[in-house]
Amino acid sequence: MIMQMNPTRQDIKGKVALITGASRRIGAELARTLHHAGMGLCLHYRSSRQDAERLADELNEVRQHSVKPVQADLLAADAPRNLVDTCIEHFGRLDLLVNNASAFYPTPVGSITEKDWDILLASNLKAPLFLSQAAVESLAAHQGSIINIIDIHAERPMKNHIVYSIAKSGLLALTKSLARELGPDIRVNGVAPGAILWPENAESEQPRADILDRIPLRRCGEPQDIAAAVLFLFRDTGYINGHMLPVDGGRLLNI
Ligand SMILES: NC(=O)c1ccc[n+]([C@@H]2O[C@H](COP(=O)([O-])OP(=O)(O)OC[C@H]3O[C@@H](n4cnc5c(N)ncnc54)[C@H](OP(=O)(O)O)[C@@H]3O)[C@@H](O)[C@H]2O)c1
Repeated sequence: MIMQMNPTRQDIKGKVALITGASRRIGAELARTLHHAGMGLCLHYRSSRQDAERLADELNEVRQHSVKPVQADLLAADAPRNLVDTCIEHFGRLDLLVNNASAFYPTPVGSITEKDWDILLASNLKAPLFLSQAAVESLAAHQGSIINIIDIHAERPMKNHIVYSIAKSGLLALTKSLARELGPDIRVNGVAPGAILWPENAESEQPRADILDRIPLRRCGEPQDIAAAVLFLFRDTGYINGHMLPVDGGRLLNI
């Protein structure tokens, strides 16, 4: 008897993803994983030009003309439209938008400025909405997907990070709202990392020990864990829509 093991798994060779904040850290791993699975990539970066170009060169050596690095500051109002247009001009299609770029820093109550609000909301919430809107037509033409990289703190706010937490809660609401609005042609889901990579500007070791203590698996995840979740949601399932998948070693149970 021949068994069909995974009837919804699609062949994604030749499909195209736009990944924001893709030059380093988790974004770079998303790029490597989706490229390895056969996709073309629009690799967005803001200030990490060298990393972006090095990664694009590395991946273009594997398949020529398969990766296009694109610079944009997501604080700029015309960035979303320009990014999507560049992607379509270069590849002629768009199948997956991954909203990964993110500003992250503490904003203790009493010290919050409008500038903090603008910076933290722009990359974590406003740009994902306007990128999604700019991409709708192209994504719908290919039964595409939007995957937002959220955070477990969308559901349980992070101490001293009120504006970031609000932005990620908004991104979760955006994920559900868009899933409702954009069916049947586009699926919209989110991946919520727990502790994966420590922020580069973190100072004290103490909170790290506290965080690890609260993770049932007692360790951080790897960028590959996030990339595997994105690939799963895009390629391996066709009926998950409007959900946020925590990838956190169980941390949400003990936050
Ligand atoms: N790291 C973790 O453990 C963790 C935990 C929970 C959630 N997450 C989420 O997972 C995603 C990736 O995490 P990460 O730690 O790898 O991210 P990250 O290194 O903090 O930031 C990713 C990229 O976002 C870009 N970015 C920031 N502000 C921007 C702006 N205004 N315009 C354009 N690009 C901007 C930066 O690009 P340039 O370098 O080119 O300037 C940066 O490299 C984020 O959405 C984050 O919130 C991560």
